Amino acid sequence: MGLIDETVTFYNNEANVAEDQIKLLKRQILQLQQSIKNKTVDSSLNPELQKLITENTKLKHRLTILKRAISNLNRSPTPRDPTKMQNIQDVLDEIFRQAIASACPDVTDPPVVITLTGNNPKFGDYQCNSAMQLSNIYKQLGRKISPRDVANKIVENVAENELIERLEVAGPGFINVFVSKTFGLRNLSTIFSHGVRAPVQQKLRVLVDFSAPNIAKEMHVGHLRSTIIGESICRLLEFLGHDVLRINHVGDWGTQFGMLIAHLQDKFPNYLVESPPIADLQSFYKESKKRFDEDEEFKKRAYACVVKLQAFDPNYTKAWQLICDVSRKEFQVIYDRLEVRLTERGESFYQTRMNDIVAELDQGGYLEEDEGRKVMWGDRSEGSIPFTVVKSDGGYTYDTSDLATIKQRILEEKCDWIIYVTDAGQATHFQILFRCARRIGLLTDRIRVDHVPFGVVLGEDRKKFKTRSGDTVRLIDLLEEGLKRALDKLQEKNRDQVLSPEELKKAQESIAYGCIKYADLSHNRNHEYVFSFDKMLEDKGNTAVYLLYAYTRIRSIARTANFDEKKIEELSKGHAISLDHEKEWKLGKVLLRFPEELVKITKDLCLHHLCEYVYEIATTFTEFYDACYCVEKNSAGDVVKVNHGRILLAEATARVMAKCFDILGLKPVSKM
Ligand code: ARG
Repeated sequence: MGLIDETVTFYNNEANVAEDQIKLLKRQILQLQQSIKNKTVDSSLNPELQKLITENTKLKHRLTILKRAISNLNRSPTPRDPTKMQNIQDVLDEIFRQAIASACPDVTDPPVVITLTGNNPKFGDYQCNSAMQLSNIYKQLGRKISPRDVANKIVENVAENELIERLEVAGPGFINVFVSKTFGLRNLSTIFSHGVRAPVQQKLRVLVDFSAPNIAKEMHVGHLRSTIIGESICRLLEFLGHDVLRINHVGDWGTQFGMLIAHLQDKFPNYLVESPPIADLQSFYKESKKRFDEDEEFKKRAYACVVKLQAFDPNYTKAWQLICDVSRKEFQVIYDRLEVRLTERGESFYQTRMNDIVAELDQGGYLEEDEGRKVMWGDRSEGSIPFTVVKSDGGYTYDTSDLATIKQRILEEKCDWIIYVTDAGQATHFQILFRCARRIGLLTDRIRVDHVPFGVVLGEDRKKFKTRSGDTVRLIDLLEEGLKRALDKLQEKNRDQVLSPEELKKAQESIAYGCIKYADLSHNRNHEYVFSFDKMLEDKGNTAVYLLYAYTRIRSIARTANFDEKKIEELSKGHAISLDHEKEWKLGKVLLRFPEELVKITKDLCLHHLCEYVYEIATTFTEFYDACYCVEKNSAGDVVKVNHGRILLAEATARVMAKCFDILGLKPVSKM
């Protein structure tokens, strides 16, 4: 363990001790207040009460000091890392926290509110809005201080720092913050010296459970959403320095295997020696389901197969394995095309663990009989429902499997953070899961859990996404159509005449897969979204096509001026990024927000913020490019003047965009 880790552990322990003390003090204060209330006698006449009041005041004072100590302990002030861009919001937070503490020493836990200022540069870049709240707090304490006065007091107490150019108190008490160009320049220069890097967050072990299609059933658009969103979340968290486990919790266990195996035995009796040529697993599934529903004999056999499988009979395990393999190959085609990486660990992995957890719950007295089932309640609040842990036939359910799963993730994988990406329809399931896990003391406050829900995919008719004939859309067909449409688009623009066949293919794939991913990610995932190739292939507005083109254009600026990667490297050593022109500085400030934009997404796990951010970069770049020459040419088309600082600014823009693209799974190409 390094020194920093040790220090953090030490502080954490200290904080925990202090927190316990606070709890104790709070309880004592409450008791004292209660006793004071119970004495109705005049206080001046009652020395005992006088004593209580003094004691109370003292306790309160100690509580304040402890609270402040805790908030200082929990914030490990990260020293500036000169190889990474700094998170401006964080730095401001720290600066103002200290200023407010000095300006208002008498307020416990003062609010520190820092926001990005809207579009008008007159009001600065960021603002601190704490003064209004603080004035209110003073009012409650019986002191009248106007928000403006508080604001001025805070400004007086802001310590010397490199970030802030100047501060202005405006309106009812806003403090407008103007970021210094020197600071901006130094931060942006790290892009050339060390690449686009974000500040490290405390490294966590994160498990992202995403994609998770069900074996033999079709992988539908819902799984596509989970796959796209989950992959981006992983990329983001990996970029921020976390240790990420990408888990594909496929549905590879359950009663459906009984009928699949029974059907396999009939159709391919030779399956033990010869791999069955199942070309279309979905039709195979449908056939066996039909038999299962219509044929009593078959149904009985299917059940018998489940029993054999669960008893690990090798012939049945082999059949199960074969069926899973066919599915796995089909899924892998999709993952390869979309460049998604996953570790498969399906429901079957938890078989014995399910037995264990059921026994534990039983012994712990958590299970209740309910019409032959064994259920467990997360809580008894109104409208809540329990988990079915054991069915009346003794079988397990999706609920049982997720209980065993979360236990494995917490105790064996030692996760600090578990993320489940599924459709919003499963929200209740996860709510109950988390409650049950808390109830048995498995899930504690130390561990963060998130269900990341998303809305359904609709067709252009705003009904559930289906093919014309009413079938579920097969993902592979969807990707194929994307490719076709992307090619049409490129041909429409006559790009096939300019690009080599290889370049054309790269551009086609980049556009096709990029637009499908981006359309998904750029919508607020909580809402349903309409799947429309026409919309996603538009080259205007916040679309993948627009952004990919914008990026290619930015990249081509340096090329026109004959700057290749190596020359840019040299250039960045001898020249500074130009930030003097109003539009240059505006663009620079958007780029400087990169770290805080990423951190924002770690809070709500909504990737559309990142899409909005890249789009803002692209449009701000256009503003800059319209106003500022990077390369000047004469009438003959020869380069006569190159503005080096601007070439660097364009290059920095491209690099930040590329990083965002990478997180979003977009693959820019050098020519399109
Ligand atoms: N296979 C499930 C489905 O298709 C999703 C599994 C999600 N993960 C989990 N641990 N429950 O809906």
